[in-house]
Amino acid sequence: MQSKQEILEKLTGIQSSRKSYYTELNYLVEEMKKKNRQLAVINQLTQIQINASWPEISIYIASQLSQILPFDHFILTLVKGGQLTSYLAKGGEEEWQCHTLRQASAPDQASLSILNLLHQSLTERFPDHHARSVPLRSQFNQTFGFLTLLQGIRPASVGEEAELFSLIASHVAVSVENILLFQDVSEKINIEAQLVQSAKMAAIGEMAAGIAHELNSPLTAILGNSQLLLREMKESPAAPLMNDIYQCGVRCKKIIQNLLTFSRQEEYLFSTISINEVVEDALSLIGYQLSVSGLTVTKELADPPLLFHGSRHQIEQIVINLLLNARDALVGREDPFIEIRSLLVEEDDGDAYVGLSVHDNGEGIAADSLRQIFQPFYSTKERSKGTGLGLSVSLGIAEAHGGKLLAESEENQYSRFTLLLPLLREEIRHGEKTNADRG
Ligand SMILES: Nc1ncnc2c1ncn2[C@@H]1O[C@H](COP(=O)(O)OP(=O)(O)O)[C@@H](O)[C@H]1O
Ligand SMILES: [Mg+2]
Repeated sequence: MQSKQEILEKLTGIQSSRKSYYTELNYLVEEMKKKNRQLAVINQLTQIQINASWPEISIYIASQLSQILPFDHFILTLVKGGQLTSYLAKGGEEEWQCHTLRQASAPDQASLSILNLLHQSLTERFPDHHARSVPLRSQFNQTFGFLTLLQGIRPASVGEEAELFSLIASHVAVSVENILLFQDVSEKINIEAQLVQSAKMAAIGEMAAGIAHELNSPLTAILGNSQLLLREMKESPAAPLMNDIYQCGVRCKKIIQNLLTFSRQEEYLFSTISINEVVEDALSLIGYQLSVSGLTVTKELADPPLLFHGSRHQIEQIVINLLLNARDALVGREDPFIEIRSLLVEEDDGDAYVGLSVHDNGEGIAADSLRQIFQPFYSTKERSKGTGLGLSVSLGIAEAHGGKLLAESEENQYSRFTLLLPLLREEIRHGEKTNADRG
């Protein structure tokens, strides 16, 4: 039998509204929690590290978004100068990975057609995924990128989520735009610093070239005369002094030659050259010097020989510089050796180089020195031995040939310098041959 109270409650509906009041309250609390989470994430998204790399940024956004939106993969796409660069973040929990995908588009395409292009390539890559994108717009309402969520199933109701996603995009856009501006500015500052530096170097180069020319003729007299005197005073007690004068003259001459090359005031003819021949020439010049120092010199030369276009004299100078540096590093070492190798080096992006490496098991180079060795006048050798110009001159020559000069080393273990010069391809070689045959 129902109590009077219960009958009253049923009639007035008080109890039932109390029930729905509680479920409603619960629902509201859940909603509030959800909104709070979303706010926290949006707040986090405005704090993207300005100097992080793009893959890092994509992973950061993905990890934040995964707390409030369902998706399998996240993609941050940037549009710049006719190129789409997409940073695809995969994974979840602690283990995010990022892949970079690049795609060309016409430089002035409308954002809608760029978006179509992006979705097209995503459909090809992920045929069983559904892509949802929102544009990243600048303050001037220009689209400079997209955020994309990839989901295995087509999301059922997207209204509220879509709104949230757009809201997030507007916050991310501000952060990303700041980062782009920051990169622009730092690039400008860098270029400016480089300009100042190269202007300085050009000034030094010009000055050095002038001085070198001035010094050349008096030096020739000093060298010639001291050599004559030396011959005459063979047994005289003053002979060592005269020899000293002669040796110092030779050293000055070398410095001057280096300076002239450094300032590129000397002209060199470019021709087709085999790296193996350059190595042989260099060894015929200083091989004797090396062998009297008790070093073992081994060479392993590429077969067939690799060709490049360049100045034989200049490249030979690099090889000699590298060999002399190796010799200096080997003084007083046990079982000293120098290994010279020529080889084909192919990089991932398809560029092929003629490589020449000079490896020694000498004193090696400390990590902080390694950063400085290519600077002009940087030397760890005593004044009478080092000019600090060898490597900077060599790097200058390598770069003027469109090549590179790389250094690897471990202190007290080894040093390896690798010269890379653009490979002269087979077709070009044949072309030149037939021309030569005709001529
Ligand atoms: N093979 C090598 N092993 C160890 N240190 C090296 C080697 N080559 C170059 N270095 C370091 O780099 C410095 C700069 O070399 P370089 O420009 O040729 O000038 P220099 O030989 O006149 O000192 C050297 O003083 C030396 O400290
Ligand atoms: Mg040197």
